[in-house]
Amino acid sequence: MKTYHIAVIPGDGIGKEVVPAAVKVLHTAAELHGGIKFEFTEFPWSCDFYIEHGKMMPDDGLEILKDYEAVFLGAVGNPRLVEDHVSLWGLLLKIRRGFEQVLNIRPAKYFKGLNSPLADPKNFDFVVVRENSEGEYSEVGGRIHKGEDEIAIQNAIFTRKGTERAMRYAFELAQKRNRRLTSATKSNGIFHTMPFWDEVFNELKADYPDVAVNSTHIDALSAFLVIKPELFDVIVASNLFGDILTDIGGAIMGSIGIAPSANINLNGKYPSMFEPVHGSAPDIAGKGIANPIGQIWTAKMMLDHFGETELGGKILEAVEWVIAKGIKTPDIGGTATTAEVTEAVCGRILEK
Ligand SMILES: NC(=O)c1ccc[n+]([C@@H]2O[C@H](COP(=O)([O-])OP(=O)(O)OC[C@H]3O[C@@H](n4cnc5c(N)ncnc54)[C@H](O)[C@@H]3O)[C@@H](O)[C@H]2O)c1
Repeated sequence: MKTYHIAVIPGDGIGKEVVPAAVKVLHTAAELHGGIKFEFTEFPWSCDFYIEHGKMMPDDGLEILKDYEAVFLGAVGNPRLVEDHVSLWGLLLKIRRGFEQVLNIRPAKYFKGLNSPLADPKNFDFVVVRENSEGEYSEVGGRIHKGEDEIAIQNAIFTRKGTERAMRYAFELAQKRNRRLTSATKSNGIFHTMPFWDEVFNELKADYPDVAVNSTHIDALSAFLVIKPELFDVIVASNLFGDILTDIGGAIMGSIGIAPSANINLNGKYPSMFEPVHGSAPDIAGKGIANPIGQIWTAKMMLDHFGETELGGKILEAVEWVIAKGIKTPDIGGTATTAEVTEAVCGRILEK
């Protein structure tokens, strides 16, 4: 029997509702498998924790987490108690940066029975590999002078190491999927970093002759994701471009409540962290109507990361079946509760 040891941080708001739902699905998947089990250790680190202790997590929080095989997180934020930049930087970003989670992976997919805002969504199914540690979001630059002489400088840092590892991950992911990779560029407008990005991409593609590649400027690519999302398989993008493209991905699926994500550590020194794209949704917290699918699909990504891809596939199939049956929470046009959707997913997993 293989045991996976997972640190669980439900966080705030609906995180406390959707995390138990996904944990239940994982236990059900383990029951189906028969040869694995999950041992979850829960940490109450959240805005409530901040009110009590003056910090989002203990000073040795990373030390406590570092020996788990993964961190499974809900959502963090309660602006009524703690300012968002404090809760974000005090927990989420500390883990992402401290654990060198250099890639952020976000899939987007058409589900039958889900109303996409697109008139004709076709059968899109793509994954964005976003560089997660440098690029346009580097803390390098500064501000000087005041008034009309004021100057702000923001430097974008693109290292060969960071660029290459994001691209290689994307090439290898494309090899496991439909062997098509699009690079998000803007080398016609951004003078130094994007031509460098293109050069690295062109060098690497020789190592993956079985993957069909193209480079598309970010403005056109954004428009294509709305007009013809079915054209794409894997997209590799810098930190800022990936951030924007993944929001489009979430939007065309129909609700932010279903979008999953994984923050991947590649050097094996620290655990990766799995969290849905959505936040703590204070407007619906406590009502029992939060959509658990983003968190459940995130659990599937964690299983894929462990190499349990067949079991992960079963979870996604169950989610697709439940949506197609119309068992949906209000954000996607249904009347089901979080618990009812979760029960239906678990029931379908065991049915097969
Ligand atoms: N990764 C994270 O932990 C994360 C991400 C985004 C926002 N936040 C935090 O969450 C708080 C609220 O932020 P926000 O309102 O901008 O974003 P949000 O994602 O929490 O909510 C945006 C809208 O989407 C709805 N929604 C989100 N998830 C849903 C779900 N699973 N089911 C049904 N509806 C859902 C909400 O009801 C709300 O109307 C803030 O404190 C913010 O900082 C945290």
